[in-house]
Amino acid sequence: MFGLHYKLERNTIGFALAVIVVAGIGGFVEIAPLFTVDETVEEAPNMRVYTPLELAGRNIYIREGCYACHSQMIRTLRDEVERYGPYSLAVESKYDHPMLWGSKRTGPDIARLGGKYSDQWHVAHLNNPRDVVPESIMPSYAYLGRAELKANDLGLHLKAMRAVGVPYTDEMIANATSDTYGQAMPDSTFSSGLSKRYGDKTTVRDFDGVAGQVTEMDALVAYLQILGKLTDAAYSPVAKAED
Ligand code: HEC
Repeated sequence: MFGLHYKLERNTIGFALAVIVVAGIGGFVEIAPLFTVDETVEEAPNMRVYTPLELAGRNIYIREGCYACHSQMIRTLRDEVERYGPYSLAVESKYDHPMLWGSKRTGPDIARLGGKYSDQWHVAHLNNPRDVVPESIMPSYAYLGRAELKANDLGLHLKAMRAVGVPYTDEMIANATSDTYGQAMPDSTFSSGLSKRYGDKTTVRDFDGVAGQVTEMDALVAYLQILGKLTDAAYSPVAKAED
C-alpha cells in the first residue's frame, strides 16, 4: 500500500490522474442524492405562497439575524417531534429563498410556530421578552413597532421571487403594495382582493394592535404566525404513517 503510494508520488501524470479519480468519487457522493430528488421531495399541491406582508416580515427576520438563534427545521428525532410537532418536510421550504433552516438553537425551533401564541403575545414578547418569559435572554426588538413598513418596492421583490421559481402571478405582483396594507388593516378598502389571490385562510388582522399604520412589527408577526402553515403536508396520512 505505502509502496504503491511512494511510486505514484514520483509519477506526476499518474498521481494527477489518481487525484482526479479520488476527488471524482467524493464529487459523485455529493451529487448522487440529487438523482432521487423527485422521489424525496413530497408533493404539496395546495401550498400557498407568502403574501407580500409575510415576505416583508421574513426580510425583517433575516435583517435582524433571528436565524442566528432560531432554527426552522424539526429533525426526525423523537424528542424533537414530541416537543415541536411533525418533522419538517423538504416541500415546506419550497418557497424559502434563502432557506432559514439555521444551524444553532439558542432559542427554540420555530418551524411550527404559527398559531401557537396570539398576536398580542408576540408583540409583548418582541417588545421585551422578559415581560412574558422572565428568564429569557432574547434581545428586545421594540423599535420594530415604531418603524413604518416600507412597502412600495414589494412588487419587485415578488418579481425576484418569481425569477427563482415561486409562482407569483402578474396580479399578485401588481397588487403587492396594496395587499400589504390590506392584510394589516382589516377595515381598509385595500383588503378586498387579498383572499382571492392568496386563499381564504389568509389572515387579515391588525397584527401589532395599533390601528392606522403598518409597521415592521405587523410584518414580522404576520410572518411568525404563518410559520408551518403554508401547507398541511406534514400532517397528511402519508407523512403520519412514516412517523
Ligand atoms: C440571542 C439569541 C436570540 C435572538 C437573536 C432571537 N431570539 Fe427569539 N428566543 C431566544 C430564546 C433564548 C428564546 C426562549 C425564551 C423566550 O421565549 O423568550 C426565544 C424565544 C422566541 C420565541 C418563542 C418561541 C416559542 O415557541 O416559545 C419567538 C417567537 C422568538 N424567539 C422570535 C424571535 C424573533 C422574531 C427574533 C428576531 C427578531 C428572535 N427571536 C431573535 C433567543 C433569541
